[in-house]
Amino acid sequence: MTPVRAGLPAGAGRETVQQVCTSCHAIGMVTANGRTSDGWAEVIERMMGLGLEASDEDLQTVHAYLTREFPPRRAN
Ligand code: HEC
Repeated sequence: MTPVRAGLPAGAGRETVQQVCTSCHAIGMVTANGRTSDGWAEVIERMMGLGLEASDEDLQTVHAYLTREFPPRRAN
């Protein structure tokens, strides 16, 4: 069994998110709120403005993973 990574569900891209999105803050910062596809694209762009560096391929993987695993919360 793979150990559960802090708050990230299993799935393609989890390792990449773990690598790319935890150098400046805890993963909890990422997982606190769900977002739409556009919302995640905006976040990733803003993180690049703050100094995030990753390949286009990794950024696409991160975007796909977050959009799939962390959609906006339902009302209920
Ligand atoms: C270069 C450092 C850095 C990296 C790498 C980084 N972040 Fe951030 N992140 C920050 C800083 C600084 C803040 C707090 C300031 C802010 O909110 O603008 C933050 C805050 C956040 C927030 C909460 C703020 C909000 O608007 O909701 C989210 C979500 C987030 N980051 C997601 C990510 C994701 C997803 C990645 C990986 C793609 C990532 N971060 C990688 C620096 C970074």
